[in-house]
Amino acid sequence: MISVKDRVFRLDTVATTYLFRVTKFGHLEHIYYGPLLAPGEDARVLAQKNTVPLGSSVVYNESDELYCLDQMYLEWSDNGRGDYRQSPTELKMPDGTFVSDFVYASHRIVEGSVQMSTLPSACGGDRTLVVTLRDTTVKATLSLYYTVFAQANVITRRAVLTNESREPLVIRRLMSMMVDLPDENFHLYTLDGDWIKEAYLHCRPVTYGMVTNASKTGASSNRHNPAFMLAAAATTEENGNVYGFNLVYSGNHASYIEKNRRDIVRVAVGINPHCFEWGLEQGESFETPEVVLTFSSQGFNGMSHNMHCFVNEHIVRGHWQKRERPILVNSWEAYYFDYDEGKLLQLAKKAKELGIELFVLDDGWFGQRNNDKAGLGDYTVNRKKFPRGLKAFADQLRKLGLDFGIWVEPEMVNPDSDLFREHPEWAVRHPEKKPVLARNQLVLDLCQKEVRDYIVDQVGLVLDEAEVSYVKWDMNRAIAEACSGALKDQGEFYHRYITGLYEVLTRIFTPRPQILLESCSSGGNRFDLGMLCFSPQIWTSDNTDPVERLKIQTGLSYFYPLSTMGAHVAQSPSAQTLRNTPLSTRFNVACFGCFGYELDLRHLSPEEKKEVKDQTAFYKKYRRVFQYGTFSRLPATKANKVFWQCVSADESTAVAGFFQTLASPAETDDRLRVTGLSTGEYVVRTRPQRLYLTRFGGLVNHISPVTLNPEGFLLQQANRYYSLAGCVEEYRCSAAALSAGIPLNNQFTGTGYNENVRMLGDFGSNLYIIEKVNTEEGEDE
Ligand code: GLA
Repeated sequence: MISVKDRVFRLDTVATTYLFRVTKFGHLEHIYYGPLLAPGEDARVLAQKNTVPLGSSVVYNESDELYCLDQMYLEWSDNGRGDYRQSPTELKMPDGTFVSDFVYASHRIVEGSVQMSTLPSACGGDRTLVVTLRDTTVKATLSLYYTVFAQANVITRRAVLTNESREPLVIRRLMSMMVDLPDENFHLYTLDGDWIKEAYLHCRPVTYGMVTNASKTGASSNRHNPAFMLAAAATTEENGNVYGFNLVYSGNHASYIEKNRRDIVRVAVGINPHCFEWGLEQGESFETPEVVLTFSSQGFNGMSHNMHCFVNEHIVRGHWQKRERPILVNSWEAYYFDYDEGKLLQLAKKAKELGIELFVLDDGWFGQRNNDKAGLGDYTVNRKKFPRGLKAFADQLRKLGLDFGIWVEPEMVNPDSDLFREHPEWAVRHPEKKPVLARNQLVLDLCQKEVRDYIVDQVGLVLDEAEVSYVKWDMNRAIAEACSGALKDQGEFYHRYITGLYEVLTRIFTPRPQILLESCSSGGNRFDLGMLCFSPQIWTSDNTDPVERLKIQTGLSYFYPLSTMGAHVAQSPSAQTLRNTPLSTRFNVACFGCFGYELDLRHLSPEEKKEVKDQTAFYKKYRRVFQYGTFSRLPATKANKVFWQCVSADESTAVAGFFQTLASPAETDDRLRVTGLSTGEYVVRTRPQRLYLTRFGGLVNHISPVTLNPEGFLLQQANRYYSLAGCVEEYRCSAAALSAGIPLNNQFTGTGYNENVRMLGDFGSNLYIIEKVNTEEGEDE
């Protein structure tokens, strides 16, 4: 899996090979990253050919006029030796210059992953190659770590810089990795967005010059997720070469994608150098976060399958790894801040009746937290809302048969809080400037030990007292005025904040391994692999409109498995978009994730309650397929359709989602394609769902025996107790037929309604369950 011969390093996963070698001057030359090569493949054949000198290029050593760093494919490159592309480093070297030149000194191969001392990293790697480079004149070393995760087809990379010189070395930029790839007319795919519109997938051709995908908010951010892809032109979900990259880090990140004059595409990924400066005294080291690389020749889905496997097997860890996640109800969109114990218990009772397993008490339970202007920082229960305390409330939930979960936002403080009045110096702010607020709050300075200790103690007390089994850890503002009284060098702030956060999370949750942690940052503002090392799931977005979620969850699904995405059914019209959507579609989208409800269940009609009961029972039956099955996006030939599918690990069961955004008149045939099933015979069946009478307004009179006023009391009442059955289709066919696609019944086109017409309209959807017919039965027929 890792082999070294004649100074050529070869790293194999199940389906990929990564090759580089040491050049005669000691630089690391990148040779190949792509589909698995034959054993013993000659690296010289794949390496760049340099047979003619090029114009006025800077020559590294006059003994070889063909050796120009600027034109080579490299694994690492420094400043000041003739490579004018973006260097992964900007180092003020102990000799006072910005010139560095790290060349090969030694290497070693170790079993497994090598844990980091300050940062979380992937666990359970197969083998690690450490190549150590040494500067040609200054006493400093750079170790490049390559860990192979064979089954996931992933290689991770990171760098550790050590100053061995008496004089200090100052890091202004130190990326975790860089690599030069031959251009394949690449397109760059990034996930960009904002609050309530996270992770929209954007694509642009890689042209000459440099593009940066980065965040400067102190978090990995909803503006630009650290994950991105480079795909060969014309790549589809199912075909084509795709390179995927991600970073195990939750703070400011940057990735540079630069195509140079020689059509070489350089990629460098790591900590954002923005306001970053880190000094190393003699003997000190700096370790960069781990970068995840994968390659697939099977299109975007192939790349996603690698990333999903990697996250489920090597990022998420501990008790909840691969464990089914509970169905929850969250109080936020049901009540916001307006509740007391009695009202919450009413919600909890309804939740239990409907099959929900976990009750999550969101914001508003502590201090003077009756709106978002006060109370953050004061984690003592509000006795007006909970006269008998939190434990008594939690006990009542447990008596009902529900687990208890709680919301906290420990990294923040409101100026209007006891904590701030007592410790104004704990907030992140410029000592002399008027602080800038966001959502009426300031960030707590996690660079200070006292602050970290306070959070660990306070949160620990709450968790233990109420025997909490789930925590939603929120973080609702970007960092500004990045400075800390605890630091001599303010260039360390952003990184120290994140290592402080990781320390706090470790101290709180390692002794409480059973707690399921769901992190959140105004939704998906910190959806990254660093957080996933601690929290097995993340609240995907504050936008619970299912049509918006189709975009958001699709975007994230390129890099993150469904087991990591919190997804809830909320009320309609949506609290974020005012869009009206059927209850069935809200479920059909949310079940592709860690599922829950976030609405006032007390107001559901009897008919809706039946539907919700059916939904929870259905989700429990197929939960494993949704959370841990192989998820794929199926290409849609029509712009108003989205297709998602999950296939069970044994490839004998699938659940496929058919989603229609805006209806179009006289829809042509819809087809259902399901891929990835093992050979055999299958039954395909629509999950039954209800059609509510009020959806049809005056149209009900075409089928109703009595004429009803569309706005009238009678129709409203009938709607509460009666609904129509949506069309259920059932087919029997082979995996091959499903993979090719089977035509579905026609949609409503204004010419009538019967039980074989699919009534979708705007925002309609169906789930199809595909199950293998057991062989004996198959043979009988
Ligand atoms: C953030 C979260 C929401 C909710 C509120 C509470 O916006 O993303 O889900 O918890 O905070 O204030």
